[in-house]
Amino acid sequence: MTLFFGLTVFAKEPISPIPLNAPYDKQKALLGYRLFMDPILSSTNSVACASCHDIFSGGGADRNKVSFGVYNKKGNIQSPTVLNARYNFKQFWNGRAQDLYQQANGPIHNPVELNMTNKDVEKELSASQLYRSLFLQIYKTNTIQFSQVIDAIVEFEKALTTPNSRFDRYLRGEKSLSQDEIDGYTLFKQVGCITCHNGINLGGNSMQKIGLFEEYKNQKNYPDLYSITHDPDYKNVFKVPTLRNISQTAPYLHDGSAKTLKDSVIAMSRYQLGSTLSNQEIEKIVKFLKTLDGETPKILKEKI
Ligand code: HEC
Ligand code: HEC
Repeated sequence: MTLFFGLTVFAKEPISPIPLNAPYDKQKALLGYRLFMDPILSSTNSVACASCHDIFSGGGADRNKVSFGVYNKKGNIQSPTVLNARYNFKQFWNGRAQDLYQQANGPIHNPVELNMTNKDVEKELSASQLYRSLFLQIYKTNTIQFSQVIDAIVEFEKALTTPNSRFDRYLRGEKSLSQDEIDGYTLFKQVGCITCHNGINLGGNSMQKIGLFEEYKNQKNYPDLYSITHDPDYKNVFKVPTLRNISQTAPYLHDGSAKTLKDSVIAMSRYQLGSTLSNQEIEKIVKFLKTLDGETPKILKEKI
């Protein structure tokens, strides 16, 4: 930490603030917002992206251990947040989608999520006067194409960033934190959480195994990296989840087994660090994690 023109500058911190003005196309994003909220994208007209990604009060994730799709079919893994997903190096717990475009195809076609073909989506949307006029206005087309639907949804997801958390403002030298919160951050670095949870998203930038010091026993087969590669070394390897807005996205872990933030920190110290942190240390880390709650994305204040 050095003093520079009267501002505290944290040049070498392993965590970077969320950029203040992440670029996106507003018109497309507003169309994407409408699509994200609209059950028209499901075969039963009953499920929307927002059903499993609560962007208003659920931190962009699902309060259920696993989500429910069409016909109330149960999903097979906990729903991660869509907030700040643009900063993840890959998408899905096992990183099987290279980017948000590839990702958005997943839930639309998934038989237990939205269960639609490209043609179904084009047909349903083309039957709506409102969508026809919106796509004409934005994409200058009389025939709605599936790729445009994906494009608009992704543009909306790009707008889902949550800058200006108290921690980011602390990093920028604009705000102070309590002593407990600072101690929590110091511990987070000292005990090694930072080796996996770093960068803009405090995660989202590497694949790691859960259960480094003690085997993590799953009740069932979750779609981990092994499910794609079939290499036994990749059992229980998942994308490190972001810790942004983490206070809002319970339950935690890929199986939703950690009910509270405190439970997940205890699990991390046990499985990832092989250490037992004192109750006081855990409480301080939790206090630090709560400083990562950011602002509501501006786009959610727009009328659609
Ligand atoms: C039925 C529930 C459900 C619906 C509907 C749904 N999702 Fe998801 N979403 C999930 C689950 C569960 C995962 C994690 C799946 C996995 O990793 O294997 C996920 C993963 C994601 C991710 C990846 C986040 C990350 O960090 O890896 C994004 C982005 C996303 N969904 C966006 C969307 C969009 C856009 C839609 C609508 C087109 C949508 N979801 C519809 C449940 C749902
Ligand atoms: C070796 C890498 C590694 C280390 C070290 C590590 N984590 Fe994690 N963390 C992960 C992975 C991988 C997951 C996802 C595991 C899963 O869901 O099974 C995760 C999940 C979490 C979650 C739950 C996130 C969610 O959305 O479900 C929290 C909270 C968390 N870690 C905090 C911490 C804290 C605090 C520490 C230090 C005490 C720490 N982690 C140390 C890799 C790591």
